[in-house]
Formats: sequence, C-alpha cells, structure tokens
Amino acid sequence: MAPLHVALIMDGNGRWAQAHGLPRVAGHRRGADVVRELVESAPGLGIGTLSLYAFSSDNWQRPDREVASLMALFRAFLRRERRRCIKEGVRVAVVGRRDRLSAGLVREIERTEAATLEGSVLCLRICVDYSARDRIVDAANLMARNGDRGRDAFVRALGRAGQESDASLDVDLLVRTGGEQRLSDFLLWECAYAELLFVEQMWPEFGRESLSRAIDTFGRRERRFGAVPAMP
Ligand code: IPE
Ligand code: IPE
Ligand code: MG
Repeated sequence: MAPLHVALIMDGNGRWAQAHGLPRVAGHRRGADVVRELVESAPGLGIGTLSLYAFSSDNWQRPDREVASLMALFRAFLRRERRRCIKEGVRVAVVGRRDRLSAGLVREIERTEAATLEGSVLCLRICVDYSARDRIVDAANLMARNGDRGRDAFVRALGRAGQESDASLDVDLLVRTGGEQRLSDFLLWECAYAELLFVEQMWPEFGRESLSRAIDTFGRRERRFGAVPAMP
C-alpha cells in the first residue's frame, strides 16, 4: 500500500487541562508530547505524511497570553526535536503564513526545515497560522495572474501558494480529537475524498494506541471515489 497521508486536527487541549484543574497552557504542553510519540510511531503504521493542525489563522483571536505560550511551545518543540528528526529521517515542513510569526520563530522554522530536508522516512507538515480558504484564494490569485486554467494548474498553484512542492497531496484519513465534528478551515481542498474520523478523546489523551486504532478503522472503510463498490 502507498504511504498514507494522515491529517490530525489536534483539538481539546484546553478542555483536557480544565478537566484536570490545570491552566490551558498545560494542555498544550501535554499536546506537544503526544506529537513526539506519534511521529515515532507513524512510519510503522504505514504513514508517509502527517499533517498537523497546530494553530489556525483564526486562533489569533485567542487571548494574547495563550497565543504567546503556544508560539513559545512551538519554538521550543522545534529546537528540542530537530536533532531527533534528522536522526529518524523526518522531514519537517511548516505550512502557513510566516509574516505574522516572530523573527525568532521564523529562524527556528527555517533552521529545522533546512536541517531535515533530506529526511525520507516521514514528512511532518506542521500547519501554523494556516487557513485553507486563504490558501485557496492565494492559489486562485496566482492562476489569474499567470492566466492558468484547469484542475492540474490549480493544484500546482496551491503548492506554490504555500511554497511547497507536494502540498496538494490528497489526504487519506483525517482525524479530529476533542469531539467536535468540523474541519475548522483545515485542508479543505486536500480532503475532498479523505475518510473522516471524529473521536471523543481530547488531544493530550491521543497516543500511539489511538493512532493505531484510527488506522485500523481506516483500513475497514471502503473508498469508492464515486465508482461502484468493488466485486466481492
Ligand atoms: C487545540 O486545543 C489547540 C489549538 C487550537 C491551538 P484547544 O486549545 O482548541 O482546546 P479546546 O478545544 O479549547 O479544549
Ligand atoms: C482547530 O481547533 C484548530 C486547531 C486544532 C489548531 P479550534 O479549537 O480552533 O476550532 P473551533 O474553534 O472549535 O472550530
Ligand atoms: Mg478547540
């Protein structure tokens, strides 16, 4: 089977923290530990690309303190994990707008991307200040500027709009933790035929076992892409 593209909407950190009598940031911190665990187990589960929704463009509306701690956590995560990613063959790509991130964070991102460029075991796409709608609009503007038309050209434009070579990769499985059943502006184009899985677990509770179960569920789904079911 071709390596899977799995997208994860990491939701529920705040509620998890609240349920444990902790500040929201403690939930985000635990959430980052989960990411480490999943990166380790993803290749063994047949996953070639993992797209993580870490911070949406709409998340800027949160209180300044929460935004600041999320950005600090993200920076610390990159600094801490870089060496391990190089060793494990994980290529890190940070997806989304960069002009609203701090210069220090952008430097950390660039350093990590450059250092892990050769990784071929897993592509880890971390989406920060990401909005699928904005990206689609950017791609449409690029098309108009170049006089391009058609789906293939659009897919290429979508990649260029995010300065990515393989951004238009279709998602095979999208999992959202935290019980909500919505996409919240994540990978709208790429999820056209994704299998969707919504789980009640909060993100800090979603570990290796949960990902493995999600992949099992995915394996039992029949993907038809609009055609008739396969003959038994
Ligand atoms: C997901 O958890 C992390 C981000 C959106 C950055 P939340 O912070 O949304 O947690 P809940 O949904 O409030 O519990
Ligand atoms: C979606 O979660 C964004 C991320 C997980 C980064 P939100 O918590 O921001 O989504 P809504 O507000 O419940 O739709
Ligand atoms: Mg949430």
